[in-house]
This record gives sequence, structure tokens and C-alpha cells, in this order.
Amino acid sequence: MFAQRIERLTSSLVRDILAAASRPGMISFAGGLPASEALFQPGASDFAALNCAQYGQTEGEPQLRELIAQRARALGIACTAGQVLILNGSQQGIDLVSKLFVEEGTPLVVEAPAYLAALQSFKLFGAPLRPVTVDAQQGPVWTELADALPGARLCYLTPTFQNPSGYCYTDAERTTTAELLDAADVPLFEDDPYRALSYDGPAPAPIVGRLHKARWVYQSSFSKTLAPGLRLGYLIAHPDLITPLTRLKQAADLHSNRFSQHLVANLLASNRIDPHVAAALPLYQKRRAAMDAALRTHLADKATWQLPQGGLFFWLKLNQPTDTYALMQQALEAGVAVMPGDAFYQGVAPGSYLRLNFSHANETDIATGVARLAALLG
Ligand SMILES: Cc1ncc(COP(=O)(O)O)c(C=O)c1O
Repeated sequence: MFAQRIERLTSSLVRDILAAASRPGMISFAGGLPASEALFQPGASDFAALNCAQYGQTEGEPQLRELIAQRARALGIACTAGQVLILNGSQQGIDLVSKLFVEEGTPLVVEAPAYLAALQSFKLFGAPLRPVTVDAQQGPVWTELADALPGARLCYLTPTFQNPSGYCYTDAERTTTAELLDAADVPLFEDDPYRALSYDGPAPAPIVGRLHKARWVYQSSFSKTLAPGLRLGYLIAHPDLITPLTRLKQAADLHSNRFSQHLVANLLASNRIDPHVAAALPLYQKRRAAMDAALRTHLADKATWQLPQGGLFFWLKLNQPTDTYALMQQALEAGVAVMPGDAFYQGVAPGSYLRLNFSHANETDIATGVARLAALLG
């Protein structure tokens, strides 16, 4: 009855767990939710001058595209506004790039671990995945990347405060990655939604700006900096790729929501986004410290982890081999929602991991939730 690819459509674990996580009394470390206190709350004046009820352009609102291109150039990405495509959230970029590049039998290089909703999309379109280990302490395993790239159709990376591991590629690692991509002439899809949530100094410039030969798509989002409910993200593409991506966007939904686009363009033009993020960072730093302290108190002898320099997650490696899906179920029954690490791997995970979001719960709930989790680990 359905297209054959539907057999490869796995249910989104995130959505299932988020549904369970919203039950009353549940402490959620499961989703990638920004702190409610840090969400941008538009005032009446933000809507006053909006004139955007008519259909708009598929590419996005011209002023917003121009402002995004300016910011990207400041990050070392040589681009014009003509290379910017506004998205209904950066998840749409994953769908459009999948449609452009991925088909049955065309191998794709992904990180291990990797953002699970990207893995889900790539699998839906039938790509055999070539996972490359990115160690939460040591970074990418170069021999694996060099072996995986030749003949691959695309390489998907989240080099800045990766979801789930929190790992941030160093400046030198970004340059080496670009050299390997250029040598193999494999297009890079760089997903960068967490760059602004940097707690210990700015992250190194994106990899796409270091490429000389390989084609590229760079994408980011206003979900983590302003509000996910805006459903607003963008991609910037190599000149050869922007036209087909725009056609795919047109076929998917004509254009992104113009109200969100105008709101965000006005915020960028009046320089209100960076101060908004700067004001939210101390709250995130406090919650990060609270989770680190709770983990030290309750799990120091049961797990290891790094203090994330940015992003929204702790990536916990359990000392004992553990069925993390079963643990997730027990944790839900105990009133705490966590993400099993296995979900972020294509194939077998090299250990037992949990992803814990630290931005959403308050400090008291962080302490209580970690204690509940620790009790389950015996
Ligand atoms: C790595 C990564 N890419 C893309 C997304 C999708 O974000 P959005 O569609 O809200 O922009 C997320 C959300 O958590 C993410 O972690």
C-alpha cells in the first residue's frame, strides 16, 4: 500500500520519549529543549509592523537572507544572500539535503554517535551509512574518516557542541577534516545549531569556510537561541547546490512562515538576538554546573563524562554494560526521562551511554532527577 521506503521509517524515539516526558511530575533530561525562561517572548511592538499575510518567496524574505549572509561571512563562510534558503526549522534542511543526495545504495559518512533524527532521515532515503567514531574526549578518528570518505555521496557532521556527545572540533581538527573532504571531493553537510550556546569562549569557525574543492551545505537554526516554536532555520549552500535545494523546498511547502521570518529579521536588524543569547548563557552555565555537581555526588563511581563546553547535553558513559533502552523505561517509571545512547548509533554502540539534557529542568529538579537515575543504577 505504501512506498517501499516506509518500511525503513522508524518511529522517532525523541517524540515518543518527549510525550512520556511531559507527564505531570516527570523530570525531563530527554529532549533538546532550551530553558523555558530563555525563550524569546515577542511583545506587541514586534508584531505591529508585520505585513506578511500574502504568499512569499520560496527562498525566504530578502532582508532576512541578507542579514544571515552577513553573519555567515563574519564566520568565514564566503557567501551571498542568494545562497541562503530559509527553512521551517533546520530539521527541514536534513529532509531537503536527504532528498538531494541520498538514495538506495549511495553511502553516506556520518559521525558515531550522531543526531538521531538525521540518521532517521538518511535511513528513510535508503543510504548505507558509514559511521566514523568521534570520541567524546579525543575527537574524530582520522583513519576511519580517511577510509570512509572515498566514494561517499555526502558527509554529515555536527562539529560544534555535537548532539549528543557535546564534542567540539578544535581549529586544527576542522582544517584536517576540510583537507580530507577536499582530497576525496565529498560534499560536506555541516549542521551547526548550537554554536551560540558556548559557555567557555567562542567555538572555532565552521568547516565549510575551509573547503577549497568539495561542495557544501551549512545550516543553523533560531530554535536554540530564540524559540523552537518559531520553526525557523536556514541553510547556506555552495552555488551549485542552492537551485536544486530551493526547488525541493518549493515542492515541499512553497515557503517558510513569513511571520517568523519578519520577526527574526527585525530582531537581527536591531541587534537584539545576541544580547538575548548573552542574557541566557548564565542560566545555562548554572544548570550545567548543577548537573555536573549532581553527577559527581551520585554517579562518580558509576559513570564518566566531560563537562560540555557548549550545547545542551551531558554524554554519560556508564561503567557497567547496561541495556540503556531498559534503563530508559525504568527511569520513566521512576519519574525521570533520559535518552538511551544506543539511539545515536548506526549499529552497535561501543559502550553504554546516556544523553542528559541540562537546560530544561531547574537546579532542584536536576539534583532530584540525577539522584533518581543513580538509584536505578544500584
Ligand atoms: C544537530 C541538530 N540538527 C537539527 C536539529 C533540528 O532543529 P530545528 O528543526 O528546531 O531547527 C536539532 C534539534 O535538536 C539538532 O540537534
